[in-house]
Amino acid sequence: MNRYPVAYRQATEEPEAFWAEQALRVPWYTPPTQILTYDDQQHARWFEDGEFNICYAALDHHVAQGRAEQPAIYWDSPVAQAKCTLSYRELRDQVAHFAGALAGLGVEKGDRVVIYMPMIPEALVAMYACARLGAVHSVVFGGFAAHELATRIEDAAPKVVVAASCGIEVDKIVPYKPIIDQALVQSRHQPDACIIFQREFQRATMGVRDHDWNELVAKAPFAECVPVKGSDPLYILYTSGTTGKPKGVMRDSAGYAVALAYSMQTIYAMNPGEVMFTASDVGWVVGHSYIVYGPLLRGCTSVVYEGKPVNTPDAGSFWRLIEAYRVTSFFTAPTAFRAIKKADPDAKLLEQYDISSLKHLYVAGERLDAPTFHWLDDLLDVPVIDHWWQTETGWPIVANQPGLEEMPIKPGSASLPVPGFNVQVLNREGEPAAPMEQGSVVIKQPLPPGCLIGIWRDPQRFHGAYMAAFPGYYLTGDGGYFDQAGYLFIMGRTDDVINVAGHRLSTGEMEEVVGGHPAVAECAVIGIHDALKGQVPIGLVIPKDDFSGDELALENELLARVRDTIGPIACFKQVLVVNRLPKTRSGKILRKLLRNMADGKTFGIPSTIDDPTSLDEVHALMCERDVGAADKSASI
Ligand code: COA
Ligand code: AMP
Repeated sequence: MNRYPVAYRQATEEPEAFWAEQALRVPWYTPPTQILTYDDQQHARWFEDGEFNICYAALDHHVAQGRAEQPAIYWDSPVAQAKCTLSYRELRDQVAHFAGALAGLGVEKGDRVVIYMPMIPEALVAMYACARLGAVHSVVFGGFAAHELATRIEDAAPKVVVAASCGIEVDKIVPYKPIIDQALVQSRHQPDACIIFQREFQRATMGVRDHDWNELVAKAPFAECVPVKGSDPLYILYTSGTTGKPKGVMRDSAGYAVALAYSMQTIYAMNPGEVMFTASDVGWVVGHSYIVYGPLLRGCTSVVYEGKPVNTPDAGSFWRLIEAYRVTSFFTAPTAFRAIKKADPDAKLLEQYDISSLKHLYVAGERLDAPTFHWLDDLLDVPVIDHWWQTETGWPIVANQPGLEEMPIKPGSASLPVPGFNVQVLNREGEPAAPMEQGSVVIKQPLPPGCLIGIWRDPQRFHGAYMAAFPGYYLTGDGGYFDQAGYLFIMGRTDDVINVAGHRLSTGEMEEVVGGHPAVAECAVIGIHDALKGQVPIGLVIPKDDFSGDELALENELLARVRDTIGPIACFKQVLVVNRLPKTRSGKILRKLLRNMADGKTFGIPSTIDDPTSLDEVHALMCERDVGAADKSASI
């Protein structure tokens, strides 16, 4: 079998021929004649003159081709104690009527719609309805606070906001409406209307511009799909960068659909009619690609799960779902398995379920640590596949690709680059690194279909953040190395982005929030190792000289400030007030050294340090306050 090298070579050497062939996987109103073109900044555009609609390709097309009665989604919510199945026809009809409702509120092709919803079928209905009209959706994860929502509303400038009245967490109901109302007070942009899906657990109080979802849909006409150009935007998905302003990653529809359809077969080894379960959230890229769009483009059924890996009600939930829906491919973040392993170390709960339908298990979103890999590998009879990608790429960059060719699995590596991604590792000088030599992981232009087409309203940021460091290459922000066999090992971010329970967060943004407190003179937020969540942020704060208040009270205020501004999902639970921070003589805070100290690693004292005694002070405080594994660290 050499299908992988053949595909990889063709995608690299003849990208137009390769992707023209893959484009046959999806239905077009007008097939593209331009396969690959470049914008004025030399960024790739795919299928620019094709006419397409992703909602048609994922729903109407399958209804027309004989899948009308096949389940499109299985919704399962232990927190709402409810389940439902929607066939392709039922989902298409709900989408078409909701699209009619949006159109009735004036939403047209190119308009933006912000969606703030939990894992309920209506979230998918809203996303597909936007796509149906050629409108651009921007889904905001429910764990973000009002300020983050406001930032996104202001940047995306939506005509309509669609929300549910509440989300349901393990032990609490989270009312969404007050968060939206607060966000709209903060935002300079105001939508024309809000549509609220009322959940009985916590109904929302409606205001003058609010419309009840059910009432609107009851009188809305069935809207047909609006063809859009291949490179027109489908969605904006905000992700953390190195500053306080999230980046609005913009994605087209046709290239995305082609890439997802390709990956569903080659990476996820899914056949039409089979069931995929991706345990993530529609607010993240994983949810967009492999809960909402990917499975349906391939004619599969997608499991939509509103629950957690543990405590809803126990650590057997994933196994239960795999059995109940005869899941073939299952995908989640390693942190979810760490939570399961902690609650049920011997996987006793697995014995209650028949998971023989499962063929492959996929993990991504953060590093797959060796203990979790081995726990899963010993437990299950299926390949445990780590694969590496990011919001910007929209689909996997490096993966084991069982639908193309079985490849040996190497623990710690996401395996080989996916056809279309010319992945390279460059050293500081911008030269290709030797095998086993660490460097910046980059992707040689052109990026394949499905990747970002820009940053919403900020072309300069796209260029500056990704393209400027190594001309001709896209900078992923991750460091890593290839082994002799070409397997890629990702070693972590090279910037201020951290990964908390598979969620991408910016320490730079947290520093802006903490530093904005009137009593704070200076601060550093660093990501330290956490056994469950991979990383968690901690803050180190120097108060202003005239600060005479209570330090503990200040710490609590800062924790609340991050929670209220960014959201509970930041997991910002520890702040230390210090007198000094270790810095270089040029005034740069030695963040890496602080991280190593907190993680209990040996840390060298750089010759450029301004005042070495500042280190001892911080180290002593970290030990006293039980920060990470600080007491085990020792300087060299
Ligand atoms: N809406 C509102 N609040 C939310 C939320 C949502 N959609 N999701 C999480 N939160 C809140 C939680 O209630 C919690 O609040 P608290 O501080 O008051 O307890 C906080 O945000 C942190 O949540 P979380 O990171 O989920 O921590 P947890 O301890 O509740 O659960 C895990 C830990 C590992 C079980 C959980 O993080 C998980 O399921 N991770 C999988 C990650 C994942 O799917 N990533 C997607 C990329 S593939
Ligand atoms: P996000 O954009 O939220 O999907 O986060 C992307 C980032 O998560 C990547 O740049 C990596 O730092 C990290 N990441 C995702 N998948 C993996 C993986 N399989 N192994 C290591 N890190 C990963």
